[in-house]
Amino acid sequence: MKRVKIVGAGSIGNHLTHAARQLGCSVDLCDLDQSALVRAKNMIYPERYGQWDDEIGLYSSADVPVGGYDLICIGTPPDSHLDLAIKALEEAPKALLIEKPICGPDLARAQELFELAAAGNTEVFTGYDHVIGKVAVKTRELTESTLLGEIETIDVEFREHWGGIFAAHSWLDGPAASYLGDWRRGGGALGEHSHAVNLWQHFALVAGAGRVHEVSAIADYIEGEGVFYDKVCALNLRTETGLVGRVVQDVVTLPPRKWGRIQGSDGYLDWQFGYEPGRDKVGWSANGDTPQDFIAEKTRPDDFIAELEHIRDVLEGRIKASPIALERGLETMLVIAAAHKSAQTGRTIKIDYEQGYCSAALQ
Ligand SMILES: NC(=O)c1ccc[n+]([C@@H]2O[C@H](COP(=O)([O-])OP(=O)(O)OC[C@H]3O[C@@H](n4cnc5c(N)ncnc54)[C@H](O)[C@@H]3O)[C@@H](O)[C@H]2O)c1
Repeated sequence: MKRVKIVGAGSIGNHLTHAARQLGCSVDLCDLDQSALVRAKNMIYPERYGQWDDEIGLYSSADVPVGGYDLICIGTPPDSHLDLAIKALEEAPKALLIEKPICGPDLARAQELFELAAAGNTEVFTGYDHVIGKVAVKTRELTESTLLGEIETIDVEFREHWGGIFAAHSWLDGPAASYLGDWRRGGGALGEHSHAVNLWQHFALVAGAGRVHEVSAIADYIEGEGVFYDKVCALNLRTETGLVGRVVQDVVTLPPRKWGRIQGSDGYLDWQFGYEPGRDKVGWSANGDTPQDFIAEKTRPDDFIAELEHIRDVLEGRIKASPIALERGLETMLVIAAAHKSAQTGRTIKIDYEQGYCSAALQ
């Protein structure tokens, strides 16, 4: 992986630019907005990583080179992802990374993207990088072993006040100034903290319980003064094999709690991201044994370096099946869209995967 293009010079665009530079790639960073390019160079990048890197190419979207990239990353607001991703596929990069959530809950162009990706040679990934982090990998190993016995239920929470997000976006005046304040654009708790839904789905698959089949959700929507978003959403889920569990996402909890539990017939495991600054943890016990802990230390930039290393390893054939493959992100989008529909209609929504990644799949 040598040449990388990053679309969107905001918070994630800078993280991915820095990660690609750490892997020795040449990087072109582009944005529609000239002031975003100036901010990346003069503020975000030097404040986070010490100094600007003159090797990075900065371009307005109209002038950025087209073609010849190994990886293109889409790091713009969710409702712009799929138009940009479909355009990027025309350049036939070896890999395409689309940030989470993959699109808005209307699922516009999701099935089209899926079909185009299936017909081409580009490996397409989503930005749900928690599932490839050290704690998730350890959790996967423990869940796949027979240690916990039959998996009885899974519970995941990403409950985090979004003050932290706005602190990292000092140029935004609050939720009304971006997609974050609009659930229809992929913002609100369901869109912004959808790592939780994605982790639940990931571990349900690891446990052999299949994909999510039923979604029943309640949400607290805030509407007015330029915003319309879900501040809390609680989802009850049932998979294709009947595994039942729960996800809670919110943008109000402080201090934050990014936690999960897998309960088996013989034992349990709990994980917590950021249980103290720079540290994630998974703890477990089975058959009454003394509880054990696995602790992973990391910085925020490490998350994105690990994500790009994962993509490089897939391209170089060292990883065969990726938990951040496009389908996983699209399945998460179906659950997010089903949760909004359930919360707004008061009904349990069934997902019919035969219909494809579109609203008709939500019944
Ligand atoms: N994986 C993660 O943990 C993680 C972390 C942060 C953000 N994200 C995701 O990344 C995406 C962007 O978030 P952000 O915080 O960087 O937002 P941001 O507002 O900081 O930056 C987005 C940038 O995209 C630019 N943009 C908008 N439309 C464009 C277009 N059509 N072409 C080119 N540039 C365009 C904007 O001008 C802006 O500079 C969101 O989907 C978000 O959820 C993921």
